Amino acid sequence: MKKIFAANWKLFKTPQETRQFFKAFKEVAASTTGELVFFPSAISLEAASQELAGSSIKWGAQNCYLQASGAFTGENSAQVVKELGGSYILIGHSERRSLFGETDAQVADKVNFVQGLGLTPMLCIGETLQEREEKKTFRVLETQLQLGLQKADKSKPLVVAYEPVWAIGTGKVATPEQVAETHTDVFNILKALGFETTAILYGGSVKPDNAAELIKQPHVSGFLVGGASLEVSSFAKIASV
Ligand code: PGA
Repeated sequence: MKKIFAANWKLFKTPQETRQFFKAFKEVAASTTGELVFFPSAISLEAASQELAGSSIKWGAQNCYLQASGAFTGENSAQVVKELGGSYILIGHSERRSLFGETDAQVADKVNFVQGLGLTPMLCIGETLQEREEKKTFRVLETQLQLGLQKADKSKPLVVAYEPVWAIGTGKVATPEQVAETHTDVFNILKALGFETTAILYGGSVKPDNAAELIKQPHVSGFLVGGASLEVSSFAKIASV
């Protein structure tokens, strides 16, 4: 299976900065062999769509509502992402869960809706530091997957991103041993749920200097990268491991 290198730009990059990034990135992307996926902020999606038209680089939104349209002020539509040529939707990122109160039940509805539209959900899961210290990591991930995938279609594309909350944006990356152990757990949970072929990405302070070691760990099918995806050269290095 092709490795997947995904960039979560959060609330960074204007449409103009998005265009500049892709003009430079397309030059270096030719040397990468994995699948590249970008998640620009919502208002920059159309700029991404125009810059990436005709390229093999994929893109999508960082969140969407669980219906295509209606009286839902402030939400984003996955139907629009589809019309613009996007192919992924990030769902249940820890910042959505902790800052915006997104629940596993909403996550499940979004996964179902996005799959129904023919887009690929990239479902984010991960434990907090307290949960890890209390040895609850397995249980937390199992619950997030059981509930988040309860309406998922096993025959449709799906990607899971394991991102320990304590490693996101902190510079505190999980050790290769922690990644190996937890990705094996995630693989086993997914297998028990009938999703054994699902790609499992690691995310949380992935940088050019730790990517080569992490990608070698069992059941690591690629990365979801925040901070280090904002610069062309650092993301190109990560996507070339
Ligand atoms: P980070 O973010 O690489 O900056 O830790 C990862 C993410 O939030 O997806």
